[in-house]
Amino acid sequence: MTPISVVSYGLGPIGVSIARHALDIGHRIVGAVDIDPEKVGRDLGTLIGRDPLGVTVAADPAEALARGPEVVLHSTQSHIPQVLSQILDCLEAGACVVSTCEEMAFPWYRHPAAAHRIDRVAKARHVAAVGVGVNPGFVMDLLPVVLTAACREVRSIHVTRVVDAGTRRLPLQRKVGAGMTRAEFAQGVAEGRLGHVGLQESVALIADALGWPLDGITEDIEPVADGDQVRGLHQVARGAQGGRPVITLDLTMAVGAPNPRDSIIIEGDPPLHVTAAGGVHGDVATCAIAVNAIPRVLEAPPGLTAVHRLPPLRYGDARSAR
Ligand SMILES: NC(=O)c1ccc[n+]([C@@H]2O[C@H](COP(=O)([O-])OP(=O)(O)OC[C@H]3O[C@@H](n4cnc5c(N)ncnc54)[C@H](OP(=O)(O)O)[C@@H]3O)[C@@H](O)[C@H]2O)c1
Repeated sequence: MTPISVVSYGLGPIGVSIARHALDIGHRIVGAVDIDPEKVGRDLGTLIGRDPLGVTVAADPAEALARGPEVVLHSTQSHIPQVLSQILDCLEAGACVVSTCEEMAFPWYRHPAAAHRIDRVAKARHVAAVGVGVNPGFVMDLLPVVLTAACREVRSIHVTRVVDAGTRRLPLQRKVGAGMTRAEFAQGVAEGRLGHVGLQESVALIADALGWPLDGITEDIEPVADGDQVRGLHQVARGAQGGRPVITLDLTMAVGAPNPRDSIIIEGDPPLHVTAAGGVHGDVATCAIAVNAIPRVLEAPPGLTAVHRLPPLRYGDARSAR
């Protein structure tokens, strides 16, 4: 494999595990960015539990981008307005972007103007940008879309994902409200601080992939609780056509949630019911998907793209990239 030069942008639990995996399979990390004062100035290798790399974590992205990476592995925040300037900086510097920002999975849905801007800058610099991850980006959208390859008719898609949040990283447990009271949970949801980001993007991605015009997308979020003690959330997003829900994404993420699984039901010809027992481990899968996307984003036509518009990602490609 010819190593690909990358910058790690965002070094929380996800960015660290992406950096570690990219390094372990032979990519060259030429720069690192994070604003956390605990991380700035440290050697990236030491920070991620590997040998020193001679790459210092910088607070200023320009420092890392000046090293001319081919790809930026971006993993900072969940909403496009938060990450827009970060992504544009990377593209302006001539680097492709693989981002775990949830709203980047299908940015045209909630932020069409920002999506247009990302697309324009990426095209001008002859690079591509894509949002990736396990959810959104895989289990509740790309995977059901791939399964429809075996159908000559699809009438509806229903995906259920149950995650025991106790097995996931702390930032995720906070995002699902674990440890809160019901009142705190309700306030967090009302203020947009709580809840899984990206479920509506997954509905929009599926609809785009199947060419289904939707009436609209709705979403409900409720707590999973024992008495007043919240353990997590139950969130459902629906896409309807002619008043009938044709895409239903049902997500439970709660500490101790029983029977974790990913289950996809396609009503069609043939009907399909596929279940990943235990569920796909979100953190491990996100890290793998981001690294497996490196060769795909380099091959992609310039502009803003999405995982279902790329040739299939798979294990192995990252090892024989070019
Ligand atoms: N699509 C998916 O399936 C999927 C899966 C997993 C994670 N994600 C998303 O990926 C992102 C990273 O996850 P995580 O758990 O590692 O999050 P995290 O714990 O919040 O870590 C993010 C890191 O990025 C830093 N950061 C924040 N803003 C920055 C900026 N403007 N410039 C440089 N660094 C910045 C943070 O520093 P501070 O701590 O100082 O703010 C922190 O070190 C999150 O948005 C998460 O929701 C998506």
